[in-house]
Amino acid sequence: MPRPISPMRVPPESRRAPLARGLCAAMTAAYLLMGGTARADSLPPTVAAAPPAEDGYRLWLRYVPVEQPWRSRYRASASEWVGAEPEGAARTGGAAPSPTLRAAQAELLRGLSGLLGAAPRAAAEVTEDGAILLGTPRSSALLASLRLDLHALGAEGYLIRTTTIQGHRATAIAANTDIGVLYGTFAFLRLLETRKPIGHLDITASPKIRRRVLDHWDNLNGTVERGYAGDSLWKWETLPEHLSQRYTDYARACASIGINGVVLNNVNATPFILTPLYLGKVAALAGVLRSYGIRVYLSVPFSTPVTLGKLESADPLDPRVQAWWNAKVAEIYRAIPDFGGFLMKANSEGQPGPEDYHRTQAEGANLLARALAPHQGIVMWRAFVYTTSGHSEDRARQAYDTFRPLDGKFADNVLVQVKNGPIDFQPREPFHPLFGAMPHTNLMLELQVTKEYLGQRTSIVYLGPLFEEALRADTWVRGRGSTVARVTDGSLYGEPLTAIAGVANIGSDRNWCGSIFNQANWYAFGRLAWDPDLPARRIAEEWVRMTFSNDRRFVAPVVKMMMGSREAAVDYMTPLGLASQMAGTHFGPGPWMAPAGGIPADWTSTYYSRADAAGIGFDRTATGSNAVAQYSAHLAAQYGNAATCPESLLLWFHHLSWDYRLRSGHTLWDSLVLHYDRGVASVRQARETWSTLSPYIDAERYRLTADFLAIQEKDAEWWRNASIAYFQSISHRPLPAGAAPPPDTLAHYEAFCIPYLEGSPGNRPACPPADVPVPR
Ligand code: GCU
Repeated sequence: MPRPISPMRVPPESRRAPLARGLCAAMTAAYLLMGGTARADSLPPTVAAAPPAEDGYRLWLRYVPVEQPWRSRYRASASEWVGAEPEGAARTGGAAPSPTLRAAQAELLRGLSGLLGAAPRAAAEVTEDGAILLGTPRSSALLASLRLDLHALGAEGYLIRTTTIQGHRATAIAANTDIGVLYGTFAFLRLLETRKPIGHLDITASPKIRRRVLDHWDNLNGTVERGYAGDSLWKWETLPEHLSQRYTDYARACASIGINGVVLNNVNATPFILTPLYLGKVAALAGVLRSYGIRVYLSVPFSTPVTLGKLESADPLDPRVQAWWNAKVAEIYRAIPDFGGFLMKANSEGQPGPEDYHRTQAEGANLLARALAPHQGIVMWRAFVYTTSGHSEDRARQAYDTFRPLDGKFADNVLVQVKNGPIDFQPREPFHPLFGAMPHTNLMLELQVTKEYLGQRTSIVYLGPLFEEALRADTWVRGRGSTVARVTDGSLYGEPLTAIAGVANIGSDRNWCGSIFNQANWYAFGRLAWDPDLPARRIAEEWVRMTFSNDRRFVAPVVKMMMGSREAAVDYMTPLGLASQMAGTHFGPGPWMAPAGGIPADWTSTYYSRADAAGIGFDRTATGSNAVAQYSAHLAAQYGNAATCPESLLLWFHHLSWDYRLRSGHTLWDSLVLHYDRGVASVRQARETWSTLSPYIDAERYRLTADFLAIQEKDAEWWRNASIAYFQSISHRPLPAGAAPPPDTLAHYEAFCIPYLEGSPGNRPACPPADVPVPR
């Protein structure tokens, strides 16, 4: 039987480490300041008594009181904690525990105080059953005495094991490094947050990918490109003097899911970031993030030696340019000794690059790599090249055609960063053909966490299934199982430097991500970056339990709703392999958008749909652009034949008659319409599901989500109606039986205009005021 313990038991003075006691109090106070609801005497919220309002600030780290019988069970395994001091200090010659270890201890106390209503007692040694021991063999003599085999954990892994110490049952959270201890602490707390038993634990985990990076597309003027959660998190004006508490809470959230790198600024970079003024600010942020195991990286423009260094050229083979970068990099490392490196967007969407000097992408990347190598820095060089020169016949080919011939030419500390699909973060794309095609180059995967093309702030689209699909895609380059995950984690070709990036969806909004459900995408990215084999469903369930409730009457329907949400968006936006049918804002439908007024063809929708009287779809087979030949022979054969191509990618690879028969027996035209309808139906279903769930969660987050689902339903209908109106004007086919005609004319949909949208900073209004439609 677990022994009940009274809340906030005060142990005898002599048995407590003073620093730990101070920490406990400070952390409990900090938790309460963050809006925590931990009260020693509070009862767990029940469905009957409405849970207190929550604004989403605490993300999945809410640590709200656990209900019985879990509370008693957990308390029996959390009676006291033994941290790094004072014995660690003795072993390290009196040095205080590192900030990272202090963060781990603080998180443990914060978490347990909240979840169990009382902090476990700080102890110098194990004195009763239920002790928690955390640290490294170096920081804790007690832990060292356990002689745990930590070898396989590497530099970031952890072990959580139930064991016996000094005759008492205890839980060890151990690692080789302090950051491993922090990760282990978060994993331990996650068990409680998701109501898993903790009495008999034997867990080991280490990340499969070394660099797990969030890319912020934040501008120095405070705006965020493709950001739908307010302004930038980084308040450049008040740095370096003011270090907002949000920076620490951001770091905690990142560390809780294993993210260990942050690119602070937009890939469309400005040279100001490399001025001493801004480097001082960057150093201050790096100081906060460092305690949580997070390195800072920067996006830089290729032309910086010209714009900032006043050189005449940025030619990578020019010794003056090389000397300039060497000096600049040395300056950065003087300010930030653990600086991660650079992210580079070159020769893409108007950005400068080595091709401006008739040099290759590899020559450009290696210029920076050589400057960074002496400091152990890396270059993440994006493959998202696309210039207006050449490739007008098929932009999907361009990255592969540019980079594949350069395989083996990149320095060891360069990673070529490849988006999951060949175009641009569409609701669905096939995987990028560069995966598996560059065996002698470090390749990293870039995912988009912010939902640029998937409904932006308001739509509920859980990206776990999209990320999972991208990671599990099989390239077949070395037979079955040569997945994108295996390329990314280095196990296919054995490269030691591995990385993954996600374009962040985090901003200054109180709830960080613009909506509660957008938080799930940040969470899913981190969890998959740590372990690309985790199922998206499991991640969704974890997130729902931690973010909202463990009541299975809530968990089951919400997980189901989340798991269906991405396919719903594909259905009502771009079914059957269509892509890039959005309006210029990348928000609503714009399938009619055609090249005009100097807009490049590959920025328009008709370029991608190729809809004409004969049919619809982009012929990427041998009779068309032959992009299909960029895939392994196995896939080229499968994708290249409409009969064997997955229907979800059909119109990506094939131009087919409107009357083409799909496996279902429906014609292509009928099927297209049915998909649009299915998408709308799915959103309606989600709304209905959500409408039954108010008893289980706080009113504030319930309402926000309900309102956003109402917006999404309108948006889904808008997509469906506008798309059908447009494509029917080309197919001239009747709607299938039961499908309702769009309520308005095509002209109406074409004129429909939202003048301003978030995430496109600096853009002019999309239409004159007179064209703004009157809401129904
Ligand atoms: C998309 C996006 C841009 C972004 C670009 C990139 O095109 O719309 O805002 O700059 O991707 O990834 O570089």
